Amino acid sequence: MKAVVCTEYGPIERLSIQSVPAPAMKLGSVRIGVKVASINPPDVLMPQDKYHVKPPVPFIGGIEGAGVVLEVAPDVTGLSVGDRVMTYAGLGCFAEQVVVPASRAFRTPDGMDDETAAGFVLVYGTAHHVLVEAAALKQDETLVVLGASGGIGLCSIQIGKALGARVIAVASTPEKLAKCKEHGADDLIRTDESLRDRIKELTGGRGADVIMDIVGGDATDSALRAIAPYGRYMIAGYASGIVPNIKANLIFLKQARVIGASFRILLERNPQAAAVNIRHLSDLWQRKLLRPEVTARYRFEQVVDALKHVGDRKVIGKAVLYVQPE
Ligand SMILES: NC(=O)c1ccc[n+]([C@@H]2O[C@H](COP(=O)([O-])OP(=O)(O)OC[C@H]3O[C@@H](n4cnc5c(N)ncnc54)[C@H](OP(=O)(O)O)[C@@H]3O)[C@@H](O)[C@H]2O)c1
Repeated sequence: MKAVVCTEYGPIERLSIQSVPAPAMKLGSVRIGVKVASINPPDVLMPQDKYHVKPPVPFIGGIEGAGVVLEVAPDVTGLSVGDRVMTYAGLGCFAEQVVVPASRAFRTPDGMDDETAAGFVLVYGTAHHVLVEAAALKQDETLVVLGASGGIGLCSIQIGKALGARVIAVASTPEKLAKCKEHGADDLIRTDESLRDRIKELTGGRGADVIMDIVGGDATDSALRAIAPYGRYMIAGYASGIVPNIKANLIFLKQARVIGASFRILLERNPQAAAVNIRHLSDLWQRKLLRPEVTARYRFEQVVDALKHVGDRKVIGKAVLYVQPE
């Protein structure tokens, strides 16, 4: 089968499309014929050795994708050959076939196309887990979303609005901010403005009840200074590449909580709960209450350009890679 292989850590350009044997089948697993993979920040960072997960080389990238079940291990129930599925595989989706634990393969909702399915699980699973389960965001609370025009960001705006919160979106360009508005954001902040000052201004000096931080770096300190009393500061990612240091006095003075929340860890530790969440999100999509946004599509041969565009912050919403021709 053809696959995008990382044979040594280094610049993205070193990735190559190779012909490799299909992965071996395992108990508890399903083999998926991948149609479309989505592109996530770890796909960009991992081959450059800039991500905390460091698979031994050679490895096939692609943490997430969608396609059709080709083979089912004898001990797996609930999935059959021919079922359309979306998967958070962790690795291996930039290839014609991937073998994943059955708990990582979710039925694609009827009516959802493969490119939407390829980029559905991780971003909606994360936004839902962070805001609903970990932050317990409530109606009429104020939510600030950093990195709001990205994959998780747009989903967070949608989920925040669905929960009845007021949503303030933070993004770097007028085009990105316009997309946040289109997805329901009530107020907008540009990243070159002071987060602390603007959040306080927009909330009458009170601050935000929940701050969804998937960016890290300098943004974290500035945003944390504008958390409301008893607010929840959600640590959910470091798109800036910089893990922030949190000042304890800011948490103490506001009696705030700083909470880490990861959908990947939920999937590893409590796959049943993750599966319930994905079924719920699929149901919301079928009722037209969610609006996935794929804005960039690449052919398999364009994988290096695709990864660079995502890494250079040029993509709004989700980018996908067609493993099989469109
Ligand atoms: N907690 C979880 O369960 C979980 C799950 C999946 C992913 N993540 C992590 O969450 C983060 C965001 O994921 P995503 O899928 O939303 O990514 P994405 O689609 O690439 O969006 C990231 C956003 O962050 C902003 N950003 C600020 N500085 C950046 C930089 N130096 N490089 C790239 N983007 C930068 C960008 O917006 P502006 O240009 O507007 O600033 C961009 O829209 C990543 O770190 C990812 O690894 C967490």
